[in-house]
Order: sequence, then structure tokens, then C-alpha cells
Amino acid sequence: MNIHEIYPLLVLGGIIGLFSVIFIVAYATMKNKKEAIGFDRHMKDSEIIVRLIRYAKPYIPQFIIVGVIMLISIAYDIISPLLIGRIEEILSGGFEMSELFAYIIVYASILIISLAATYVQSLMLQKIGQQILSSLREDTFTHIESLSHGQLNSMPVGKLVTRVANDTGAISMMFTNLLVNLIKNCFIIVGVFVAMLCLNYMLTLMVLCFVPFIILFTVIFRKFSRKAYRRVKDGTTDINTFLSENLSGMKITQVFNREDRKAAEFEEKNQRLGKAKHKQIFVFGIFRPMVYMLYISSVMALFYLSGSGYINDTEFLGQTIDGAVLVSFYMFISRFFNPIQNLAEQFNRMQSAFASAEKIFTVLDTKPAIVDEPDTIELDHIEGNIEFKNVWFAYNEGEWVLRDVSFKVNAKETVAFVGSTGSGKTTILSLICRNYDIQKGEILIDGINIKKIKISSLRRHFGQMLQDVFLFSGTIRSNIVLRDESITDEEVMQVCDYVNATHFISKLTKGLDEEVRERGNNFSAGQRQLLSFARTIVHKPAVMILDEATANIDTETEVLIQDSLEKMMNIGTMLIVAHRLSTIQHADKIIVLSRGEIVEQGNHDQLLKLRGRYYDLYMLQFKKEQLNKG
Ligand SMILES: Nc1ncnc2c1ncn2[C@@H]1O[C@H](COP(=O)(O)OP(=O)(O)O)[C@@H](O)[C@H]1O
Ligand SMILES: [Mg+2]
Repeated sequence: MNIHEIYPLLVLGGIIGLFSVIFIVAYATMKNKKEAIGFDRHMKDSEIIVRLIRYAKPYIPQFIIVGVIMLISIAYDIISPLLIGRIEEILSGGFEMSELFAYIIVYASILIISLAATYVQSLMLQKIGQQILSSLREDTFTHIESLSHGQLNSMPVGKLVTRVANDTGAISMMFTNLLVNLIKNCFIIVGVFVAMLCLNYMLTLMVLCFVPFIILFTVIFRKFSRKAYRRVKDGTTDINTFLSENLSGMKITQVFNREDRKAAEFEEKNQRLGKAKHKQIFVFGIFRPMVYMLYISSVMALFYLSGSGYINDTEFLGQTIDGAVLVSFYMFISRFFNPIQNLAEQFNRMQSAFASAEKIFTVLDTKPAIVDEPDTIELDHIEGNIEFKNVWFAYNEGEWVLRDVSFKVNAKETVAFVGSTGSGKTTILSLICRNYDIQKGEILIDGINIKKIKISSLRRHFGQMLQDVFLFSGTIRSNIVLRDESITDEEVMQVCDYVNATHFISKLTKGLDEEVRERGNNFSAGQRQLLSFARTIVHKPAVMILDEATANIDTETEVLIQDSLEKMMNIGTMLIVAHRLSTIQHADKIIVLSRGEIVEQGNHDQLLKLRGRYYDLYMLQFKKEQLNKG
């Protein structure tokens, strides 16, 4: 057999190879849209890319520098095989030391420059990546802050944590790692291909013969790895959601002796994630050796052709094939196969990053349900007159929680809400500050519809003390001032005195600096309540809204709470839900609710005379107290 017999074969293989390269590029770019299926995507790639680029925009100059540096590092991949080929040639001939030295020095300098370029490039990218990451995180967090109570209720905390922590990371990795490598690999493939072509047509054709197989493997690989990626992602979100919920609820788990069952549930999720990871590794584990096998085959083909003497020192189209060409080709082949393999893997990771991006954008696109209308006004001062006019409200459409509720509170008055559990007391209180928006009717503050008032300005004048007091980890002081630097320690102490919190604070070794652990779990329910009073009063609200905790509170603290409540009633307008009717006996008005409707209203004496529901409730408590005393 001579070289001219295998030449047509090489040409054929080469053409097939070239076409499959075009095919893989087309496949990767065009099919991406449908690819979405694997990741449950709704947005178009282009849409995601445009939005991501917005985050990269401030760093365009840096990206350009990175691009230039990248070209330098690519130069090494293309020049070094040629140099080594030359060196081989020099070595095999009768060589002069000085010439060899010159080449070695050139080689070494290119190597050093390329290493330095890669180093600078990755440093710059990491920095940009971190900046993009933190701005994405900030945006996501601030956006979550703007969501309404209703929207927050519908999103599991664990999911949000995954969005802010993991998904933003995936996106930043795309900028720092994927994007650049993707471009770099494309350049390397083209560069190496051109270099090979210039060096020798025939050997290039031979290398191309192997490309269709790579394409085949890649297509199969992508299919499997996409599935694997998705499973890992879903598993991670699942575990995060489970963890955040169950770590908060750990005490309940212990109280109800459900440790084993919860552990089993966790184990199952954990194993599912482990398996998903396993599969992912397995897929990669198959793909990489396959490509490596192709690489080895092509190298063997190269050696075979040269060893059989077909190529050695043959002339073709004016090109001589000799040892130097062979050495260079040997090196080029690996530089050609590597980026192809990387591309296949990176396109997948890119898809996965896009999926993360889409998840974050979905959160960012969730329009806050409660926002300022365009013509809202700023209120510098409010008197504290509140009016509900035929208010209808439902958390879920159609299930009315409040029906046609109307009442009036004059400035400085204290109004109490009474009614059985679930009658809508908490709901009424949360509507006044627009934690939720009502469906029908009007809520007026000083005669102005609250929808016409800027939300931040509205909430500034209200002090909301919610049913479950939430303390942040930090100190007592930080929980009272809530990052308002203008409040002095003196004011804090005064307020604590006022609400009777000093009684227990003074017993703490560190006083105001005493550590508050997550959710304030190192304080009793009563103490937490007193701290929440202090927190509210220190911000000097015009209207105070108090939903008293139902938790059991020791008698001593209860007396303190009663006392501080009575004092607070004199500060300004106060809306209160109290469970001991004696607390609210002196309220200016008592509103009795039943199943979301007002059934009675008036002051204590008027309501007792009515002998209606309030009378019943009062007699019930009165008898209970008599019993307790007796
Ligand atoms: N976030 C919510 N989503 C859906 N329904 C709710 C929500 N909060 C309360 N409800 C329902 O609204 C009704 C009134 O609740 P609530 O105002 O908390 O009663 P109360 O404070 O008088 O005990 C209850 O039937 C309760 O199930
Ligand atoms: Mg309630």
C-alpha cells in the first residue's frame, strides 16, 4: 500500500470530521433552547444572557483586558508544539549548542509568560466574579425584603436560602470560569486546527477522522449529564429546605420523640442527593476515558502511519513530513482533543448555571404584591385616627376572613379586640400597616386611605408588637434599637425602665450587652414580650399595635406586663389584643369579633349591660379566676 492509496480515505474522513465539527457547534448553540427541558426552564437563553450581561457591564474594561491576556496564554498552546518540533529536529541533526539554547530559552520564556498570563487572568476574573456575586446577592436579598407577607408565606425559607447562597454562586462561577474557558477553548480549537493545517494537510485530515466519534460521545454525554445535573440541583434544594425547616423545628421534633423518623426522612433525602452526585460522577467517569481513548487511537494512527514509512520524509503538496512534524503533531493532537472534551462539559455546566440564573430571576421578577402607587404621599406626622370602612379581607381568594368590618378609633384612644381564636383579631391588626392588602372597603388613617400613603412612611408611625416576638441574634441593645444609631443607651435604659424590662436586664451580668441567641431562645416568653415593648416604644410610634402572646407567662412577669401595658395605653393610640379581659377593662372601646364579623362594640360597662358575648366571656374568666383563688 502506498500513500496515494490511503489518501482518498483520509480526505473522506477529514471531510466527515469537518462537518461534524460544524454540527457540534450548531448543535450546542441552536439546541440550547430546547435543552431547557432538562432543567425545567422557561426563559430563553438569550433573555438570560442579556440579563446576566447587565451585571457584567460595569466590568467590561476588565473583561477586555482578560480577553487580551487570554490570547497570550493561548499562544503558548499553539506555538509550543512547533518549538518542540524544531528542537527535536535540531537534536536529531548534528546540532549546535547555541541554537538549541536559543530555542530552549524562547520556549521557557513563552511558558513563563503564558503561566503569568493565566495567573493574572484568573486573579482578575476571581475579583470580578466576587463583585458580581455580591451585587447579585444584595439584589436578591433586597428584593426578598420588598415582598409582602403573603408572598413570603408562600416561599419556603430553605428555597430562598438556596437562591441567595448557592444559585448566585453558580452564576458567578459562570463569569469567572465557564465563559472564559468556553471562549478560550473555542479559540484553541480553531488555533490548533489552523496550525495543524499549515503544518501538514494529511495528518490534519487523519486527526479529523476521529472527530465524529467525539461528537457522538458528546451528544450521548450531554443527554445523561443534563439529567444528572438536574438531579443534583433538585436534591440540594430539597435538603436545604428540609434543613432550614427542621433545624428551626428541632425542639418540636425532640418534644414529640420524632427524632428517628425525621432522621430517616433526612437520610432518604441525603442518600438521594448522594446517588445523584454518584451518577453525575459516573457520567463524567465514562465520558473522559472515552475521549482519552480516541486521543490515544489518533496518536497510535499517527505513529502507525509514520512508522510504516508512509509519511516519513514524504513530500505532499510541497510539505515534507519529518520527525519534527510528527513531534509537533503528537502535541497538537492532545491540545485539540482536550478543549473539545472541555467544551462538552462546560456547555452542560453553562446550562446548569443558566438554570440557576433563571431561578434567581424568577425570584427577582416576583413583583412585590404591596407597593407604593404613583400618587402616594409622605406623612411627617399622624394624629392616630383610624377608621375601617366596610372592610372585606381574605388570605386565599373566596375564603373571607373579615366580613364587612367597620369601626373607628380616635387619636389617643385605646381599642381592644376580643374574640375566640381564629376570629380575625391578628388579621385586623396586620391590615392597618398594610402587611396585607384588603379586597374590599377602605382603611383610613387621619381620613387618608392607607393606599395613598407611602408604605415606609405609614409603617414608621406604627409600632407593631406581633404575636410571636422575634428576636434576632445579637445583644439586647441591638434588638431594641434595630440598627438605629441615633438612639442612645440612656434612651434605651429609660424605655426598658418604662416597660419594666430593667427588672430582669439588671440581673444579667452584661446588662444591655447580654447576648441574644437565635430567635431569642435564651429568654423567657415574658421577657421577650417586654423586650418587644421596649423595641416598639423606643421608636416613638404614634399608634401602637399589640398582639399579646398567648404563651404561658409566669405570674411575676405577667404583673410587669400588665403594668407596662397600662402605661403604654397612655402614650398614644393603641390597638390591642389582650387575653386577660382585666387588662382591657379600661379601654375606650372594646370590639368583639366572631368569625370575622363585629358582633358587639362599646366600653366595658356598656358591653356588660348588653349581656351578650362579651358578658359571657367575662363571666367565664371571672369564674376561672375565682376558682384559681379558691
Ligand atoms: N397567613 C395566613 N394564610 C391563610 N389563612 C390565615 C393566615 N393567617 C390566618 N389565617 C386564617 O385567618 C383566620 C383568622 O386568623 P387570625 O386573625 O390569626 O385569628 P385570631 O388572631 O383572632 O386568633 C383563621 O381562620 C386563620 O386560619
Ligand atoms: Mg391572633
